[in-house]
Order: sequence, then C-alpha cells, then structure tokens
Amino acid sequence: MFATRQISSLAKRAFSTTAASNGAKVAVLGAAGGIGQPLSLLLKQSSLISHLSLYDIVNTPGVAADLSHINSNSKVEGFTPKDNGLKNALTGCDIVVIPAGVPRKPGMTRDDLFNTNASIVRDLAQACAEHCPKAHILVIANPVNSTVPIVAEVYNKKGIFDPKRVFGVTTLDVVRASRFVSEVKKIPVEDAKITVVGGHSGVTIVPLLSQSGHKFTEEEVKALTHRIQFGGDEVVKAKDGAGSATLSMAFAGARFTNSLLEATVAGKKGIVEPTFVKSPIFEKDGVEFFATNVELGPEGVEKIHPVGKINEFEEGLIAAAVPELKGNIAKGKKFMA
Ligand code: 2OP
Repeated sequence: MFATRQISSLAKRAFSTTAASNGAKVAVLGAAGGIGQPLSLLLKQSSLISHLSLYDIVNTPGVAADLSHINSNSKVEGFTPKDNGLKNALTGCDIVVIPAGVPRKPGMTRDDLFNTNASIVRDLAQACAEHCPKAHILVIANPVNSTVPIVAEVYNKKGIFDPKRVFGVTTLDVVRASRFVSEVKKIPVEDAKITVVGGHSGVTIVPLLSQSGHKFTEEEVKALTHRIQFGGDEVVKAKDGAGSATLSMAFAGARFTNSLLEATVAGKKGIVEPTFVKSPIFEKDGVEFFATNVELGPEGVEKIHPVGKINEFEEGLIAAAVPELKGNIAKGKKFMA
C-alpha cells in the first residue's frame, strides 16, 4: 500500500513538472460561442496547457479576460479578426480545436449546416496551414463527416497533409452511448464502455453494443442504437431553436483534447479514443475517413484499431453507414475541388 502511494505521488510530481515547463499552446477557434466558451473553461483547468489562445469574430477579449482570472498556470489571450488576430492566435500552436460555425435548429440534419460551415472551416484550416502547419487539428464544427475532409483537402492542396494530425471529434457519441447504456442496465458509467465507429451523424454513428460485455434484449439494442445515433436531435428539440448540444459537446471536446495532450505532451502510452480520421478500413469502398478507436501517440494517430468482431445487426448498421459516409466525404472534397 505504502509503496503504491509513494510511487503514485512521485509520478504525480514528475508529471506536473513536465507540464509546467513543457505545456502546449492550444487554440480554440470559435471560442466565444456556445461550445467554445465551456470548452475553453474546461481546457483552462489542464496543467498540460501553458497557453490558451481564444479566437472568435467577436467577444473573445471578454471571454479571455474572464478565464484569465482562474488560478491555473496557463496564460489566456483573446483575439478577434482585428490586428491580424487569427495569425497571432495560431502562431506557435500545438493543437487547434475548431468548434466554430452555426448549430442546428429543430428539423435540421447536420448536413443542412454544410453551406455555412464548410467555408468557415475551410478558411480557418487555411489559416492553420499557414500559421501553425504542424499543429494537430481537432474538428468539432458540423457536419464533421464533411468538414474533416475539407481540412484534409486544404492541407493536401499545400502538399502538407499529415493524416496523423487531423481528427474529427466523435467523442460525444461514446459519451452518450456510455450514459444511455448505464441508464438502461443500471450500472455505473465506468462499466459502460461502448465502442462507436463510423462517422458523426445519424446512421453513420454505429454503436457496437455486442462488444460491450453486457447482454441486451433485441428491443434494448434497437432502442439504444437509435438513441445513440440520434441523441443530438434530443438536445436540438429540447433547446427549441436555441441550438444544439454545447455543454456535453464541450465536455467531449475537452476529453479528446486532454487525451491528445496526455499522449503528446505527457508522453503517456496506450491512450485510446474514438475519432474520425483518414483510415484504411473502408478505403476500398471509397470511404477515406472513418472513426474507430485510435491509439494516440507523440505524433497524434499512433495506431488505428480495426472495427473488430461484430454481429449481423451491426453488419447491417455498417452497410447503411458506408454509402452515407461516402456521400458526406465526397461532398467535402467536391467543395474544395
Ligand atoms: C451533437 O452531436 C452538436 O454534433 C453535436 O449534438
């Protein structure tokens, strides 16, 4: 007992020393928005971030001033387009998180956001490629299935696309899956680890309940699968015109960013998160990007896990997801062409 405690407190001390001296510069683009503000608050708590750089078209100086009073060690700065704000926000960044864009209103799909968000993400990615070409880009802006290919194309056009460094954040799907399964099975969320693969919208979200180690009735599988696939709609409906998930999305975005920081800054091994990345898994079907569990390492993507063993029902879900994903990815690429 004593030995274990001693080791863990020593490890803790070594960890925070590394963090204080070698923390990352992280930018949040869209930092004054519904996701951006709570996300920035959660990131302000990280000891692995030395510099939090907040960019939005308005209100970022206020958000930054507010967060800068929190007594964690990171420096916080807020930028708007004025005085080369985007360039200054991005220069020297290790990680850029992009929640910028408009959210859904009731009755809209994520794809309905394409016309507005595609150009926002393209322009921000172009600035990242110019001012912090080596940074890891974490895309939250919807439709993720199309905006991630847009970012990749921006980098491809400049000949600097590194598939290890561009991620679609699909963490909210596993966060929801864990919560919903824990409610149905009446178990703690820690015991409800659900793999979700595919993409981040409707039928492209494929929960693999058969891999969870829990038993479900056929009705439970159908109901849970539907709720995980369309969980975002519950929030859009409840917010009744005021947008989509912001707080749970910020939680999910912070979880993914923190995992990447653990793997890159702290050099921790064996960190696995689901994420939508350039993947060989369904490339033969014309699907260049696909979310599965991915081991993160010092360069970003370390190892893409396969889908694994699935049952007939899940094979059907994948069969429905693949053509939809193919269309979403092609739409992003066509926009850039
Ligand atoms: C969601 O899943 C906003 O895409 C986000 O609710």
